[in-house]
Parts: sequence; C-alpha cells; structure tokens
Amino acid sequence: MGLANACPSKYQRKTMVRHFIKFTDLSRDEVLHVFERSAALKAARARGEYIHPHLAGRSVAMLFNKNSTRTRVSFECGIHELGGHAVVLSENQTQFSRGEPISHSARVLSRFVSAIVIRTYAQSQLDDLARFGSIPVINALTDEGHPCQILTDIFTATEKFPGQPLEKIKMAWIGDGNNMANSWIEAAGVLGFPLTLACPEGYEPDKALLARAQAANPAVKLVRDPREAAKGAWAVNTDVWASMGQEGEKGEREKAFKGVYIVDSALMAQADPKAIFMHCLPAHPGEEVTEEVLESPASVIFDEAENRLHAQKGLMEFLLPKIA
Ligand code: CP
Ligand code: NVA
Repeated sequence: MGLANACPSKYQRKTMVRHFIKFTDLSRDEVLHVFERSAALKAARARGEYIHPHLAGRSVAMLFNKNSTRTRVSFECGIHELGGHAVVLSENQTQFSRGEPISHSARVLSRFVSAIVIRTYAQSQLDDLARFGSIPVINALTDEGHPCQILTDIFTATEKFPGQPLEKIKMAWIGDGNNMANSWIEAAGVLGFPLTLACPEGYEPDKALLARAQAANPAVKLVRDPREAAKGAWAVNTDVWASMGQEGEKGEREKAFKGVYIVDSALMAQADPKAIFMHCLPAHPGEEVTEEVLESPASVIFDEAENRLHAQKGLMEFLLPKIA
C-alpha cells in the first residue's frame, strides 16, 4: 500500500484546530451552543446515561503544575464519560520541568493525544503549546485566566435564571482583579452581560484586557466600592485574596482587602432580592466571604462545582469534533 493510502482522508483533520485558552476564543453563538450541549449531557446523566462516547478511543493529556480538586476531577470524569482516556501528569513527572523545549513537547503530545488540558502559571506556555502542537489546548487555569470556571459560572447563572436573556443578568465581582476577574471581563465582552468589578487599588484586573472588553460592551465597569458593584446585581462573585503562587503576598494583600472586600450579608442585601452568591472555590471563610453567606440559600457554590463537569463535557465535545 502506498503512503497516500496509509492515512485515508476521512481520518485527516478537516477542521481548523480550536483552543480554549482565553474566553474570547469562543464566539457568543459558540458559547450558547456549548451551554445547550452541557444542559443536554447533564440531563442525560441525571437519567443515568453517564456514557456518551464522543471521544471513544481517544486520549486527553492533563498537565497540572498547580494544585486542583474540582478541575482535575471534573475533567478526568468528563473525559471518561465521553468515552475517552485521561493521561494525568504533574509537572515533576514530565520532561517539561527538566527543560525539554515546549515546541518539542507540544509536537510529541500531539502524536499521542487528542487535546491538552493544562493548569500552569504562565499563559505563554499555552500559547506555545497551541502554536507548535496540532491539537486543542484547554486552559485549566493560569495566572491570567480561568475560562473554564467562568464558562461554568455563566452556565450556572443561566440555570438559576431560566428564560432570562444573558444581557439582563447583572454580575458583580468583589475583590482581587485576578485570573477569575480577567476571564469574567472577557466573557462580558463576548456575551454582553453587565459586569461591575470592585477591586482595591493596586489589585485591578489587566488594563488592556479591560479596555478591549469595554469597547465591545460598555456595561463592563471597574469601581472601588463593593457596595456600588453589588447594587442590584443578580449574581455576586468573589475569590480568595491571594491566589496560587501569591502565598508570599498574603500579609500585604490582607491589608488591602480586609474588612472591605468581603461578601457578607450586608453586602448581599445591596444586591437584587433574587441574587445568587458564587465562588469558584476553594474559599477562605471569614476572609473574602462569611460562613453565613457561603451557607445561605443564595449560595450556589456546589452547583457551580458540579457544573464544571457538564460544561467541560460540552466544551470538549465542541473542541474535539467527532472523527467521521
Ligand atoms: N475552582 C477550581 O478551579 O477549583 P480547583 O482549584 O479545585 O480545581
Ligand atoms: N484565583 C484562584 C482560583 C482558584 C480556582 C487561584 O488562582 O488560586
């Protein structure tokens, strides 16, 4: 058999490789499509139909250079439920950490697996994996963004406010202008919902990213006062004061956030009466949010955690087209 016949065209990739490195990698229509599929996969699972073998026979590499509970477990279970196999690697198990060029690792992994899910520090590593590899790269959190979490959080908000157009769901972000805040801003730019962030001085989100989102959606605002952000919000979001990798800044961050950038019942009272409280978790009760709010009826934190599974299954189904 000649070489030309060794790889029939039906097995060759026909579509452009798509990534989810930043929230802006998806269009509004694509996000809504992923939500539709996530809801369908969630409903099927609730009926006991766990396996939907979209990834049958295929493997996905999961590289974790930072700790994780939700992301790691939801992706691994999600890949299994889509009929695929997850190869889970931590930094010190691979040649990455011993300095193998990322341009090599990207091409090597592309020969074995159908996608790379990666949690790491520098966003540039994901860009390089995408540049040199030939398979989808999915951001499982970097210092700059956490798009899978935000995808899930918006999916969760749409479940909590059924039938409401996204443009009506007013979001508030209280606290650090961190990876989560950046992805919320990008999502607001793509999807058009109102978003007000209240961040302390010196802890604002990425300026250029904010300006780009504001150009697309003027209802993205940055303020100082958490009460201003929470006023009339349908969803109040927060996150830890010091993210992974910032442990050394804990003391100085505490001074900037303590007592002001905390979601308590008084702050929730500023929000719309039907408002939900959201947190990506892990939380530090008594720091960025009170135990009372975490455990209140408004809190949807465990639904968010569960939805990581459903939303990421919808996302993987979209990014990894079925082989014809
Ligand atoms: N929310 C989130 O990403 O949790 P993990 O750090 O446990 O994955
Ligand atoms: N901002 C947090 C999110 C954890 C899911 C961090 O990066 O540590």
